[in-house]
Amino acid sequence: MNCTTTAAAADLALLSSAASVSAGRELNHSSKSSPVVKFAAKRLTVSCAAASSPPHLGRRGLMYMATTSLLIPFPKSAASAAAADENSLLQEEIRKVLTKNKAPGFLRLVFHDAGTFDEGDKTGGMNGSIVYELDRPENAGLQKTVKILEKVKDEMESARPVSWADLIAMAGAEAVLICGGPEIPVRLGRIDATVPDPTGRLPEETLDAKNMKKSFQSKGFSAQELVALSGAHTIGGKGFGSPVVFDNSYYKILAKKSGSSSGGMSSMIGLPSDKALAADDECYGWISKYSEDQNLFFEDFKKVYTKLVDTGAKWSSA
Ligand code: HEM
Repeated sequence: MNCTTTAAAADLALLSSAASVSAGRELNHSSKSSPVVKFAAKRLTVSCAAASSPPHLGRRGLMYMATTSLLIPFPKSAASAAAADENSLLQEEIRKVLTKNKAPGFLRLVFHDAGTFDEGDKTGGMNGSIVYELDRPENAGLQKTVKILEKVKDEMESARPVSWADLIAMAGAEAVLICGGPEIPVRLGRIDATVPDPTGRLPEETLDAKNMKKSFQSKGFSAQELVALSGAHTIGGKGFGSPVVFDNSYYKILAKKSGSSSGGMSSMIGLPSDKALAADDECYGWISKYSEDQNLFFEDFKKVYTKLVDTGAKWSSA
């Protein structure tokens, strides 16, 4: 008599890794030559010899089933554990090089890699191409951040190779976390581009709100998502509270605007684009909400960060 236990391993794709799971036990990782890891199983099946239906079982049968279920690892949790392992290994290596002072650079790097996406032709996005684009003026200063992450990439190479896109996505989430922001689970398995993305895709800081919204719309992001993502400027050197604390002070400061486009803010605080958002009614509505409710900002930032790091990504599991 046979019984079959099937477990959906959807969370493998969520929190996870690039591992291929067999019978919930073995992990097969891609070879060193491939920068990506693979995972295959969406549903896992374990077969065991046991009774097919309880009415036919005597006490011994029931005992047998109970014992068997203890002995056979439940594949869903094995898959989840494998995925979690992949993530924690990468997190561990990132944490070795990450400090609060470096966090703003890590987070900015995410936008400069992913922000090149264009909804029209589906090119650009989170594909690690930033490593070929460091001499572009908008990427000034990011060279040193990439150099730091290169150490992590080299370290991972011998254990579990990781793509630039995965590394940058995970490093940004770690940067948010180390500065006191929300914990953001990052799915792994992105494949790197081998050529730079088209130029001129990142918004300039001199854009007004209308054009900023248009720019984000072309990447698939709403005005609300634009405002939530811009909250990343709460860390770094633009004067929104502590440069190393991820909180809602960006919105609190912008919300103090008093009708003028600069909102009476010191010219030392914020980028022209930040002030432009505060001068736009639709964006201001969100700025006001986030200034009053940090939890809402954290929740929305988590969602939009996840969307950003998945934007335009090609997956090894696809
Ligand atoms: C909305 C359009 C955006 C514009 C025009 C913009 C532009 C800029 C500029 C000009 C800087 C200053 C760079 C420097 O100090 O040399 C900056 C800093 C920064 N940006 Fe943005 N950015 C935008 C959106 C974003 C997004 C979506 C993120 C991340 C999710 C982000 C993350 C950062 C961070 C963390 C810094 C501080 C970097 C540091 O101090 O090292 N930015 N941004």
